[in-house]
Amino acid sequence: MRKPLIIGNWKMNNSIAESSLLIEKLKKSLKAIAGVEIVIAPPFTSLFCLSAIIKGSDIKLAAQNIFWEDRGAYTGEVSPLMIVDLGCEYVIIGHSERREYFKESDEIVNKKVRSALRNKVKAVVCVGESIQEREEDKTMQVIESQLRRGLEGLTLNEVKELTIAYEPIWAIGTGRNAAPEQANIVHRYIRRLLTQLFNEEIASGIRILYGGSVKPSNSAELMSEKEIDGFLVGGASLEADSFTQIVMSACMV
Ligand code: PGA
Repeated sequence: MRKPLIIGNWKMNNSIAESSLLIEKLKKSLKAIAGVEIVIAPPFTSLFCLSAIIKGSDIKLAAQNIFWEDRGAYTGEVSPLMIVDLGCEYVIIGHSERREYFKESDEIVNKKVRSALRNKVKAVVCVGESIQEREEDKTMQVIESQLRRGLEGLTLNEVKELTIAYEPIWAIGTGRNAAPEQANIVHRYIRRLLTQLFNEEIASGIRILYGGSVKPSNSAELMSEKEIDGFLVGGASLEADSFTQIVMSACMV
């Protein structure tokens, strides 16, 4: 049985004061919730402060990105060692916004995934097709190539610490989520591919999250699909109420 995982990706939002206020609210509203793993990915600038506030709660932290080297002359970058130092258990890698605005290729994703896992940080690897690719019926092809290249060279022990997030680009920040059964088909395909790439035992243990316009009004329905193990939530994670409702819908499954 895979434990549901809900990650709130705050993206480039919230000052330290705003982050602190939001996490304090979440600490209260999520306190009584059990059976769901809850992770927040604030901007780098808020990680230090949040790691102190969440002490004693069940909320965990993720970074939204990392560089692949542990240290050195890489101006402006943050290494896996540094996010471990900040108390991050997870890191999001290969989000479509990074692929689009920073031209992150599958090769770069692969380097980052390997460096995260080497440093015992759990990698959340994002994959997903554009609207044009979906319309041209290339969804599975795109996902397959992103996964094959992004996960190349991982050992079985490393792969166990992996989470995959299926995020169709056309659903991110658009208010237009994938239909639950439409997402489930892609999730099932991803699991089959993971079985091929690694083995069945590993594949059946890896959580596959859905991301793209998840909100309280659609989360329960999405969560009821067999292959959807949780969510990567953007916009709706910026409000304590909506994020709490989404988490609650995951623990009621
Ligand atoms: P959204 O973003 O929930 O605002 O669509 C999801 C994501 O980018 O992870």
